[in-house]
Amino acid sequence: MVYDTILARSFSRYEQKRLGYGAFAVCLLIILSIYTVFKPYLGPIHDLNLKLSVGVGIKMFMVSETSSSQQIAKVEGVVTKILVNETNTSPQMVQVKQMITNKVEPLCTSEERTDFCETNGDIRVQGNSSYVYIVSNETSIIAENMSWRIRPYARRGDGFAMSHVREWSLMAVKSSQNVPQCTRNHSIPAVLFSLSGYAGNHFHDFTDIIIPLFLTSRQFNGEVQFLITDKHSWWIAKYHGILNELSNYEPIDIDRDDGIHCFPSVIVGLKRYHRRELSIDPQKHFYSMKDFRDFLGSAYSLNKVKAIRIRNGQHKKPKLLVLTRKRTRTFTNRGEIVKLAKSLGFKVVAMEANGNISRFAGIVNSCDVLMGVHGAGLTNIVFLPDNAIFIQIVPYGGIEWLATNDFGEPSRDMNLNYFEYKIRLEESTLIQQYPLDRFIIKEPFAVQKAGWEAFRSVYLDKQNVMLDVNRFRPTLLKALELLHQ
Ligand SMILES: *[C@@H]1O[C@H](CO)[C@@H](O)[C@H](O)[C@H]1NC(C)=O
Ligand SMILES: *[C@@H]1O[C@H](CO)[C@@H](O)[C@H](O)[C@H]1NC(C)=O
Ligand SMILES: *[C@@H]1O[C@H](CO)[C@@H](O)[C@H](O)[C@H]1NC(C)=O
Ligand SMILES: *[C@@H]1O[C@H](CO)[C@@H](O)[C@H](O)[C@H]1NC(C)=O
Ligand SMILES: *[C@@H]1O[C@H](CO)[C@@H](O)[C@H](O)[C@H]1NC(C)=O
Ligand SMILES: *[C@@H]1O[C@H](CO)[C@@H](O)[C@H](O)[C@H]1NC(C)=O
Repeated sequence: MVYDTILARSFSRYEQKRLGYGAFAVCLLIILSIYTVFKPYLGPIHDLNLKLSVGVGIKMFMVSETSSSQQIAKVEGVVTKILVNETNTSPQMVQVKQMITNKVEPLCTSEERTDFCETNGDIRVQGNSSYVYIVSNETSIIAENMSWRIRPYARRGDGFAMSHVREWSLMAVKSSQNVPQCTRNHSIPAVLFSLSGYAGNHFHDFTDIIIPLFLTSRQFNGEVQFLITDKHSWWIAKYHGILNELSNYEPIDIDRDDGIHCFPSVIVGLKRYHRRELSIDPQKHFYSMKDFRDFLGSAYSLNKVKAIRIRNGQHKKPKLLVLTRKRTRTFTNRGEIVKLAKSLGFKVVAMEANGNISRFAGIVNSCDVLMGVHGAGLTNIVFLPDNAIFIQIVPYGGIEWLATNDFGEPSRDMNLNYFEYKIRLEESTLIQQYPLDRFIIKEPFAVQKAGWEAFRSVYLDKQNVMLDVNRFRPTLLKALELLHQ
């Protein structure tokens, strides 16, 4: 039985000797409901086998005690059933139960976009050496001196972003060893994460840090200590509304801390059981995108829940936000766009997404329609009310896939109505810079293939948009029509 083998292998030789394979087969049966459910764990198990070949063990499950003989653990959608024979009080069985409940070793998970480890017990964090010690006494079963390395930023697989993230080591040690003594005891759990990678880009801030941080720490209802590695004060100042809503305590700048902070449990890294950007897969996470948007609503006191519904004879105008950009992908005829929208009956606000996020979130939330050229500023759609309309203007250069992945698809999970307006070559300022027969104009896909930097330097950085208001008009009319329903 393949699962028995995996299970047996997932204990150290020491434990196997004590308990014997027979005891495992009788006492413990891991039933993995279906292959797809099990799949998230296959990654770590492969890693695990490699680690085991050097003679160490790790427990791959997490269990909560129940009175029934069946214990079911739900670790963010990964269901693992463990049958424990409650009537059996043999020393082996007691030890199995102890191992399960003590959880002295970290539960590490590798996902496509993140690595994170959950630890419980006597956890000591030494910031200046980037070590997390998992301390255990002689009687607890532990993979002594085994260490796990982790870069706590949820964009695994992106070599460039990850290369800037500080690496942390988790190490299982016995208390009889010379373990650093606590200089500060905390009674609440901690979450350790990095502000490196692409932090500072509004889109990446949400997709790589804020949403994963929400998924990791919301469960603690504020009673959690954030330990920040690769800290930037400006980032903390910018998002303090969100950080304050997730944690009742000031974050600790852990890299510059000479002390030893002790916790009953620490999560190193952030959870993100999905590849998609700006999304939450409710099948795999306890929370949904609706929970996240409700959370933002309370962090920034956003009180408009739903977009306006226009009824005949009513005089209240729907509000349109024209999101502008200054340096790249600028609307060159912003005045004309505003004029068109006003003539169709919108109340119009045209502004750039910058500065005070709390103020800006309020402005976005007050609108019923948001339009803007593809770019990080569009991340602000997270603040729109339900049923609002989001119009993404896609610049020239075959970047529909980016537009769709980054904002189009995610907006559907946010309960928004999505329209995509692809500009024609005549609406792009690229034709003023490059002759029509040039490679750049004729073969954008070939340029994409040549590399991201080359592609970006032209289509994203050199292009402005002169919207053909006559061609765009039907899109705004469609938006109006939707608001009437
Ligand atoms: C549980 O353990 C008891 C005592 O060791 C044994 O008699 C019984 O058969 C076991 N039940 C199962 C389902 O294995
Ligand atoms: C070792 O740890 C276990 C579980 O935390 C505890 O029950 C036990 O009393 C400890 N033993 C000693 C000698 O401290
Ligand atoms: C773990 O490390 C300590 C301190 O370096 C050492 O004394 C001990 O023998 C090591 N244990 C194993 C199993 O290698
Ligand atoms: C932290 O707790 C441990 C164990 O209870 C105790 O020995 C130690 O003195 C405490 N350290 C501080 C700084 O309070
Ligand atoms: C880290 O801090 C400890 C005190 O907790 C100190 O003894 C040690 O020298 C420091 N290490 C470095 C590399 O700064
Ligand atoms: C940001 O705006 C909010 C609401 O308008 C205000 O309360 C807060 O003081 C502003 N923060 C900064 C740093 O200007």
